[in-house]
Amino acid sequence: MESWISTGHLPTEAVVSQLVAEAHRRFGPVDEGKVASYIPALAAADPALFGVCVAATGGQLFEAGDTLVPFSIQSVSKPFLYALICQAIGEREAREKLGVNSTGLPFNSVRAVERADDGLSNPMVNAGAIAATSLAPGDSAEAKWAFIEEGFSRFAGRPLAIDGEVYASEVATNRRNLGIAHLLEEQEGIWFEPEATTDLYTRQCALSVTTHDLALMAATLANGGRHPMSGEQVVAPRICQVVLAVMVTAGLYETSGDWIYDIGLPGKSGVSGGMITVVPGKGGLATYSPPLDGAGNSVRGHLTAAFLSERLGLNLFASQPVEG
Ligand code: DON
Repeated sequence: MESWISTGHLPTEAVVSQLVAEAHRRFGPVDEGKVASYIPALAAADPALFGVCVAATGGQLFEAGDTLVPFSIQSVSKPFLYALICQAIGEREAREKLGVNSTGLPFNSVRAVERADDGLSNPMVNAGAIAATSLAPGDSAEAKWAFIEEGFSRFAGRPLAIDGEVYASEVATNRRNLGIAHLLEEQEGIWFEPEATTDLYTRQCALSVTTHDLALMAATLANGGRHPMSGEQVVAPRICQVVLAVMVTAGLYETSGDWIYDIGLPGKSGVSGGMITVVPGKGGLATYSPPLDGAGNSVRGHLTAAFLSERLGLNLFASQPVEG
């Protein structure tokens, strides 16, 4: 079976640290993009903040910039939530209930749910992630939250807590997600009370992380589900494989094609400016930079991922002719 498993390793530690530092120097001065403002608390983020961190599956960390500044995880939570749900109910059932196909529409699209006869989207967009949240084990909101909080903390390798200000700000302005949850209810595509589910989804988006945490979380997905530092097996290797598959087609929403064209690896963005790129068998890259492009993806994050994918030789589609 070994030949089926993505292997290989990063370049030497000296090369990785030098390129991580270079990416930070190169893209720090870029001042395109706009900080998200539809969640009022996010509008206050400093657009100059910029952190880059690579975590190798062997546990080595390479960092530059603001890698210890906390921010809310937002949609970067979605692959981890999906992984936890797949682990709990099985990846076949999760796929049947949530769908795994790209919508080609923005992350918070209502149309994506309404136009699909079966109401399915995928767990990387809000509708699919809200539906996934409803599948968390437990009969009560408290039990479901305990499952989610504990699972995310295992992915990070430390206890994660909610950013109360971001949570309150999103709760106060969350009409669209509530609308999506009610539409899912009409289509019988949600398995817990819609308002309580939306609240749990919002709490999970408000979990506070650092770039350093996200790199280790991404490296866990790159490492067959085992955290490179704590050594804990958070989810099974097969679960990582299916999560990465959905990230490839839908992690960057309607710009997932541009992402895979430039970077050639599964990625996931969030509106607070966090972004992860997973390099199967090798490690995880995380960036934090709040200014976003029109689809809600970090501008410096995209540039950094493209640069490091190329210069570290990470693109999954790159090959060279065999000699002779
Ligand atoms: O539900 C929302 O709209 C936010 N909590 C998360 C959206 C998000 O991060 C989309 N990312 N690019």
